[in-house]
Amino acid sequence: MDISSFLNSTELDTMDKQPLYLQIASLIADKIQKQILPSGTKLPPERELADLFAVSRTTAINAYRKLEQQGMVWTKAGSGTYVTQGRDDKALTEVPWPQLFTAYPLNPLASILRDLVSTPTPGTLSLGAGMPDPALYPLETFTELYNCNIGRVSPGDFGHIPTEGYNPLRMAIAAMLSEKGIPASTENILTLSGSQQGLYLLSKVLLEPGDYVVMESPTFIGAIQVFQAAGARVLSLPCSEKLSLELLEDFLIRYRPKLLYILPTYQNPTGRVMPENERQDLIKLAKRHRLVIVEDDPYSDLHYGEQPPQALKALDSYGGVVYLGTFSKILFPGLRTGYLAGPPVLINRLALEKQYIDLHSNNIAQWLVTMFLNEEKLAEHLTTVRREYKKRRDTMAKALQRLCANDIEFTIPGGGFYFWCKLIKSGTSQRLLQEAAKNGISFVPGEAFHTVPTLDKEFRLCFTTHNEEVLLEGVQRLAKTLTQITKTNKENDSAPSSVRPII
Ligand SMILES: Cc1ncc(COP(=O)(O)O)c(C=O)c1O
Repeated sequence: MDISSFLNSTELDTMDKQPLYLQIASLIADKIQKQILPSGTKLPPERELADLFAVSRTTAINAYRKLEQQGMVWTKAGSGTYVTQGRDDKALTEVPWPQLFTAYPLNPLASILRDLVSTPTPGTLSLGAGMPDPALYPLETFTELYNCNIGRVSPGDFGHIPTEGYNPLRMAIAAMLSEKGIPASTENILTLSGSQQGLYLLSKVLLEPGDYVVMESPTFIGAIQVFQAAGARVLSLPCSEKLSLELLEDFLIRYRPKLLYILPTYQNPTGRVMPENERQDLIKLAKRHRLVIVEDDPYSDLHYGEQPPQALKALDSYGGVVYLGTFSKILFPGLRTGYLAGPPVLINRLALEKQYIDLHSNNIAQWLVTMFLNEEKLAEHLTTVRREYKKRRDTMAKALQRLCANDIEFTIPGGGFYFWCKLIKSGTSQRLLQEAAKNGISFVPGEAFHTVPTLDKEFRLCFTTHNEEVLLEGVQRLAKTLTQITKTNKENDSAPSSVRPII
């Protein structure tokens, strides 16, 4: 059924106080209730719905999320959005799952991100997801380690192990951290099914609804989501340039936040590195206020020139820094192996909480990573990926400079995965994303990383997933989109504008 015909004559009331997404949701809900859209009807894709009502894709996504919360529609991954509620027998006998769900945070950009990561449109080149290049995963080494050692494993090692983690891996991680100036022993380490799990566990054991947390803005979206889902109130610390310790101190005095979440090295998304003296000043301030700092550090091993300063955890003189690490970016994300370093009292409490969700992380992955570390394969692998990613970063920097410099600003990151770009002319990054999709290129709009609304001028490009040739093609598609937008803007600027009454 072409449902566009039921909707396309409907105009939204821009003077209405009700947000546009709610207006669209109630229009569709009305058609569903009147059986004009019977149960099972496939609704238009988000992009088409946005075009139908001449609204942004975010507004269309919000409208569908609202209907989903009301149990009127459901989304089938990779297929589309369907009407669930009708007055036919099926609707009356089936379990109304969406109506049973607990409330969840409505973040339309999170769903854009999920789309970018999980279902790339065929032909679209994605610079969105923050992923290492699969061609560089050290799979041969892993196969060799597996084949050489599987005969020596006691089958018991693949039974249940302590929730805190596979002990040889905890020891290997403690040794690795000690080498980086972070004194640690086995009892300080909890292995995780990815560092994202560490964020979740920390939110479960430290946060109650209404608690304050301080976060850089922009910052890692996975952390924003976890803390918001815990009901925390986020205090934003702008971080594109120097971190304002004065503002942080003001937050500490005024709100007594439970923790500060921070990415001091090759920050996601800005690529910023906190200088040594700023790190020391932050630790001094945190010590004075006995502030818990959650230091997330997935990228510090990926430096393409100078080594970054030591981790905050290495400067921790008051036992307040909790350190999160992961093998997702330096090896590969499917290992789902990360770790947390902190005081034993915290490790024990987190392990109790972890038991509720997965008993312990996957033994085989932990066993393989242990051998990778103990047989000193990591240094060699890091040399390879650093060399390759440095070339990619340089290629992308040159291409952006050559083709996009009239439209965007960026700084060249010293490490990590990302270019953080800023539009210097009119237009928003979400509009750019919509237009870029037509030219087969995608990225993450900056709004997704902010804890407060912004002018929506920024966006993030990942330079590690694809080889240089593909990156060049990506920048060309981006440049083409920017030129098209500039041209349309000029045409619009020269068109006579209508006079609106001032009310
Ligand atoms: C800053 C940051 N923290 C944590 C994670 C999650 O990593 P993991 O795969 O270990 O869960 C990511 C992944 O993108 C990240 O960028």
